Amino acid sequence: MRPFASVAPMRRWAAVLGLALCPALALAVVDGPGDDRRGYERPDYQTRSLALPTRVGQATDLVGRTRQVPLGLPPLTIPKDNPVSTQRVALGRKLFFDRRLSLNGTQSCAMCHIPEQGFTNNELATAVGIEGRSVGRNSPTLYNVAYAQRLFHDGREESLEQQAWQPILHPDEMANPSIGFFLRKLQALPDYDGLFESAFAGRGPDLETVPQALASYQRTLISGNSRFDRWYFGQAANALTAAEIRGLALFTGRANCSACHRIEEDHALFTDHQLHNTGTGLVRARKAESEATRVLVAPGVYMEVPAAVIRSLGASANPDPGHYRVTGNPKDRGKFLTPSLRNAALTAPYMHDGSLPNLAEVVAFYDRVGEPNPLQDPLVRPLGLSPQERQDLVDFLGSLTGEYQDLVLDAFAAPIGDVGRSQRASADPTEVHR
Ligand code: HEC
Ligand code: HEC
Repeated sequence: MRPFASVAPMRRWAAVLGLALCPALALAVVDGPGDDRRGYERPDYQTRSLALPTRVGQATDLVGRTRQVPLGLPPLTIPKDNPVSTQRVALGRKLFFDRRLSLNGTQSCAMCHIPEQGFTNNELATAVGIEGRSVGRNSPTLYNVAYAQRLFHDGREESLEQQAWQPILHPDEMANPSIGFFLRKLQALPDYDGLFESAFAGRGPDLETVPQALASYQRTLISGNSRFDRWYFGQAANALTAAEIRGLALFTGRANCSACHRIEEDHALFTDHQLHNTGTGLVRARKAESEATRVLVAPGVYMEVPAAVIRSLGASANPDPGHYRVTGNPKDRGKFLTPSLRNAALTAPYMHDGSLPNLAEVVAFYDRVGEPNPLQDPLVRPLGLSPQERQDLVDFLGSLTGEYQDLVLDAFAAPIGDVGRSQRASADPTEVHR
């Protein structure tokens, strides 16, 4: 055990240095359901990840979920050219968890959209891709993504069938250099033999079938029948607490959250599918500016560095242009897609940049809205809520957690495509590369 005794203090220093030099990361891990890793070197350290108590895999009837959706959700529209079938869903699920889909065989979709962390990542404000490259935005949850009319925080994509090539090819995510390269690599994996052909009437992996399979799996990640649904749509009078009912009244009344996070007569997706400037982009930029000024220069020695110096070093985070990147219209700067709030309690941290660590901070953000921002949506304005009212809203958001456990257990049962001994020769990405 001697080697560990000397490694532990080094790890402690690495943690201290990491927190001091990377204030954005420090902010992201201090609060919320993810891990505050301070003290992780101690033997009594306990993780706070939202993992299920026991990690057992149990497959569920995924296709059935798309036929009969749970209470609170509208009927599902499935594209005619990509009907949901058992084979397509199973294949998409296999692809989703397969790390060999990335250039160096290390990163799967599920490593940023982590099933036991709300199909997002509770521990990172912004995603980290292949070889530790930073992606710059928060991984959105994939629960109920079947209902999305636009995808990505800036709304640049419209269908799951088109979306999947972006992470597969993005140099900071899965980093495959081309579609051709990727398809060749997939064709060389013996455990995919015949799977595409049986799911797609004889067609192998190609430009269309790969994202169609992935879309089919993601479409089944439907979660509803929350306590809110049982109260609001199911007339179960005891499903909500008094505080949650007060929170709902604020949500649809004085706080007017439902102007954007919509509740319809017979269902609720908690989104208007539109893009708005709520001023969130500025939160991170301001925090980075004020906090990056304290820099650790030697063990235990901090130095105050003027924000201007930090900026000149390129360390300050510029606000994300948002929907402007899609339209080129300056009025669309800082506009982001309204996310659904279903399962919000499972999907911290929040906003396109993960800048708000928990729901209490989200509500506090809407309550004060202090940043001067000429492009801000007029529906977002200071609310003047009492502490009790803020807590009621947080409680209400907690009632939007639907049934999701069987989807997580199903994910645990999914095959993790890894470089197995029998497949090593053909599956080794460097082999295919040559
Ligand atoms: C490196 C982390 C990472 C990996 C790997 C990754 N994603 Fe994502 N995903 C993200 C981030 C970050 C976003 C938001 C990006 C943006 O808005 O520009 C996103 C957005 C999405 C969205 C849009 C969701 C919405 O509601 O707008 C879908 C769908 C999605 N990813 C599916 C996938 C699939 C399928 C794969 C594997 C082929 C994958 N992702 C791999 C991080 C990742
Ligand atoms: C003008 C439309 C609008 C109004 C009004 C509004 N929101 Fe939002 N909400 C948004 C948009 C847009 C985002 C995404 C912002 C981003 O990604 O930076 C968002 C994000 C959120 C998130 C984070 C979700 C996630 O997964 O990251 C929560 C929680 C939330 N809003 C709750 C509320 C509450 C509570 C209210 C009322 C006090 C409210 N919203 C009022 C448009 C609105």
